[in-house]
Amino acid sequence: MLSTELNALLPDLYTLLDGLRGRRIVGHVELVASDAGRVLLVRTTKKLHEDDVQRLTAFAEQNSLIFYLQQEDDAASRVCGEQPFYSLGNQALAFEPQDFIQVNADINEKMIAQALDWLALDDNDTVLDLFCGLGNFSLPLAAQVKSVVGIEGVEEMVSRATDNAARNALSNARFYHANLELDPAETVWGKESHNKILLDPARAGALGVMPYVAQSGAERVVYVSCNPATLARDSQVLLENGYKLARLGMLDMFPHTGHLESMALFVKD
Ligand SMILES: C[S@@+](CC[C@H](N)C(=O)[O-])C[C@H]1O[C@@H](n2cnc3c(N)ncnc32)[C@H](O)[C@@H]1O
Repeated sequence: MLSTELNALLPDLYTLLDGLRGRRIVGHVELVASDAGRVLLVRTTKKLHEDDVQRLTAFAEQNSLIFYLQQEDDAASRVCGEQPFYSLGNQALAFEPQDFIQVNADINEKMIAQALDWLALDDNDTVLDLFCGLGNFSLPLAAQVKSVVGIEGVEEMVSRATDNAARNALSNARFYHANLELDPAETVWGKESHNKILLDPARAGALGVMPYVAQSGAERVVYVSCNPATLARDSQVLLENGYKLARLGMLDMFPHTGHLESMALFVKD
């Protein structure tokens, strides 16, 4: 369900896009409700006529939107408005429209609170956050533990997470770029010891890194999943290696769709 503030834009936005000279080359429109304001991203398959760019910009300014344009093969660039961010408590996480962010802010906050609770954190913990994105779990974790190491496959997101930690004055969070389909045994972070692990993979799951997680000796593992099938498959690796399923929960992250967010807590026997 789209937020009210984004829904309210749709009629005028539709009229605007339909009236553009280049309406047939508009391939993708994205709206995000950020805490810096509403974000509009328009992607086109060819360059728009300058009149169209001006009309879109005027619409964005009139509606106080943060407006990004991504034309042809160019990268998305911000035409007007501030850097978007979302807040988690007193932390602010900057993002760009192409970044992965959790789509449902209310459920995201509940999910983070539950993950932190299930990990039973204390200030001696060294936590590994696999598939960390721009630091959605890593930053709230870092505020409560000794150190956090976040691992992410998209380099831009690793930079974003690093910048987000610095902006929030968290010096105990480090981020590394890695493909988690591969065995991390020879990486810097793979040789370190982490007593708690959180993982939040994409729909494909985390099969490649599960043997590492299962052999890590971590006391607690929280697995956040948007695909129950891969969660069930990957859980087997933990269950076969001395972990017990202690808690299982579902969150309605994607209302009015068939998709479901699940969380599972595994505890070392
Ligand atoms: C469901 S998102 C979760 C991101 C973050 N934990 C959050 O809550 O916003 C999954 C993340 O895994 C990353 N990812 C996907 N495949 C990966 C891989 N093979 N290796 C490392 N990261 C990967 C994606 O870029 C994405 O940031």
